[in-house]
Amino acid sequence: MKELEFRGVSVAFGTPLSPVFEQMSFDVERGEVISLVGPSGCGKTTTLAVLGGFLRPSSGSALMRGVEIRGASHERGLVFQEHCLFPWLTVRGNVAFGPRMQGAGKSEQQVAVKEWLKRVGLEGQEDKYPFELSVGMMQRVGIARVLAAQPDVLLLDEPFAALDTERRYDLQDMLLSLLNDRTRTAVVATHDLEEAVFLSDRVFVFGTSPKGIREVLRVGLPRSRQPELRYESEFTRLKAKLVELVRAEIRSGSATPVGQTVAPT
Ligand SMILES: Nc1ncnc2c1ncn2[C@@H]1O[C@H](COP(=O)(O)OP(=O)(O)OP(=O)(O)O)[C@@H](O)[C@H]1O
Ligand SMILES: [Mg+2]
Repeated sequence: MKELEFRGVSVAFGTPLSPVFEQMSFDVERGEVISLVGPSGCGKTTTLAVLGGFLRPSSGSALMRGVEIRGASHERGLVFQEHCLFPWLTVRGNVAFGPRMQGAGKSEQQVAVKEWLKRVGLEGQEDKYPFELSVGMMQRVGIARVLAAQPDVLLLDEPFAALDTERRYDLQDMLLSLLNDRTRTAVVATHDLEEAVFLSDRVFVFGTSPKGIREVLRVGLPRSRQPELRYESEFTRLKAKLVELVRAEIRSGSATPVGQTVAPT
């Protein structure tokens, strides 16, 4: 059974209705990491919103393990470009929030806080408030907070866009280490094509005219990826290929009529 699935999903906004994409279909296996790339306005965030259960499609259906997604669920955790921490809670309070909402007792919450802060490299920062943290630290807390709620699926919308290259590499490495055991599935929207190749098993390239998935790049690199992979020739080749695919989408606007978006394999 597929972990996530889009079956002929159409989304339209405005009056008169204008389609973001029509009849879009794809599926994602459990443990896969998928990146969504493409020009601004092509529907990446919209796709994540449907998967998250925040937006109902105009037609078609989005499914998780064969069950239609009808609303938000703790099974799917969202990480945004803006960290979305609760400013009135400490780092501890933010990370404990999910477990607390799920009914965990005090000691269970503390175990979760300790474990996740360690895994995102923020031990000892429990008592700080968000305003005392750097942007990179806030994003780490944001990821720890989402993961502490134990979602099976992570939906990330340009999670590292606000960071400089060094911090971004750091957080990409950290995210991959969290995904390496393949127990979680992730869908990441990004404008950073190097990030897309580095994180993903497959990259969905969206177009603008029509919007929707136009190409799929399969990244056949081993799952366990080290930072040095970024300098290897196969990585550079895949990155160049992806740049070409995205540039072609931007240049052409694509000639295929709406309704014929490709089904990724
Ligand atoms: N709530 C909304 N109401 C009206 N139009 C919307 C709404 N949300 C998105 N859109 C439109 O849908 C299209 C897709 O937007 P979306 O935010 O999904 O693009 P994106 O690929 O995430 O872009 P970016 O790379 O800039 O984040 C755009 O044309 C946008 O203007
Ligand atoms: Mg977006």
